[in-house]
Amino acid sequence: MTVSSRTQVGIVGAGPAGLLLSHLLALRGIDSIVIENRSRAYCEARQRAGLLEAGTVELLRGVGLGSRMDAEGLEHGGIYLQFEGERHHLDFRALTDGRGVTIYAQTEIVKDIIKARLEAGAVIEFEVSDTELAELDADQPVLRYTDSAGARHEVRCDAIAGCDGFHGVCRDSMPAGLVTVAERGYPYSWLGILATVPPSTDELIYARHEDGFALHTMRTPHVSRLYLQVPADEDIERWPDARIWSELQHRLGVPGWDLKEGPITEKAISPMRSFVASPMRYRRLFLAGDAAHIVPPTGAKGLNLALADVTILARALTRLLRDGQAELADAYSDTCLERVWRATHFSWWMTSMLHVDPDADQFGTALQLSQLRYVISSRAAATTLAENYTGYLPLSWLSGPRLVIPVPAGYPRPRWCRGRSARASSADSAPATPVSVSESGALKLRSPPSK
Ligand code: PHB
Repeated sequence: MTVSSRTQVGIVGAGPAGLLLSHLLALRGIDSIVIENRSRAYCEARQRAGLLEAGTVELLRGVGLGSRMDAEGLEHGGIYLQFEGERHHLDFRALTDGRGVTIYAQTEIVKDIIKARLEAGAVIEFEVSDTELAELDADQPVLRYTDSAGARHEVRCDAIAGCDGFHGVCRDSMPAGLVTVAERGYPYSWLGILATVPPSTDELIYARHEDGFALHTMRTPHVSRLYLQVPADEDIERWPDARIWSELQHRLGVPGWDLKEGPITEKAISPMRSFVASPMRYRRLFLAGDAAHIVPPTGAKGLNLALADVTILARALTRLLRDGQAELADAYSDTCLERVWRATHFSWWMTSMLHVDPDADQFGTALQLSQLRYVISSRAAATTLAENYTGYLPLSWLSGPRLVIPVPAGYPRPRWCRGRSARASSADSAPATPVSVSESGALKLRSPPSK
């Protein structure tokens, strides 16, 4: 027997994207259900990145999800870049308009939102199986799944959000031939550990060493997280704890600084890839987060992108389902992809600049080092890193759906960027910031972009 029901938005996936989407929709009075094939315990324990852009922090705070993050998150105003045996500090606050980042693990965000949703009486179905999407050409597509007790469900939805990750069913449910994919593989992976030892550094350390990249980050004042570049097809069995510490000491070490060691409580190897699927929407099916795009972890953009997607999606769905207007839903994919490609470039750039490519020749290595020296010596280059790292495109939720949203949300257009933008004149988009046309025909900024 199949149990039939209805909801406004069927959300596939209880990762940070799906959970935040259900929370934001609820704030706008839109009901949803979330289904997830893993258990609650698994979702709350899954170790992922934990670095939040300034805009992501403001968003979570602004929607009532910030209290534990504010109490326990670790704020950072910069990073260290290390290469050729020297460590250099980049001061993000001085390089941007005061923006920093916050370390607060993805698992903690997931716990916070699950708690908030369940307290609000929301439906989150864990441990479902055989999820299927049907009738995607209709205005009310259907979501089918089997719940943890074995009952089959059919839920008629006004829209379906595919927040089910890279291996989920939603992207593959889009019509054949609609989705195009742009991707890059990298000839290395990351071995990540969690260790019960206070961080040995005040800011994150990104180290390019001739034997491979290493990163020192953290989770709490008592727990460190560290990563090592390892070969793409590496076997974790080849990395006993003593070898991990010795390699971290070797790659991160600088004279006069000590890396403190402690018990390793988790270790795992993750592959690295860049992947962008477009469009991110087919009629009333919308993809968000890893279901649509993957970035390599250098620079920690994945979680921030996923939360940005669903913020844009929540506005678009509110407009569509509450006000009956489709313009934001129609613009959803383009709006998201603008941010996705900025982060894709930044993550690729950080990755290529800091890792040792096993096939690199002398030319490639010299270019990498030249780029690193440029970043620490040129304010312009350092600013490029800082503004991308802390989050370049603004993210707005608190103002609620507006009548006219520039599509895409758009890049600030500074005075020295001359020439007309083809985008600015297209019917469905508006320039990112107010501009006037000077006598020479160049576009000029009227007011500084708001961040
Ligand atoms: C992390 O804390 O896990 C992290 C931080 C920065 C990165 C990647 C991962 O670039």
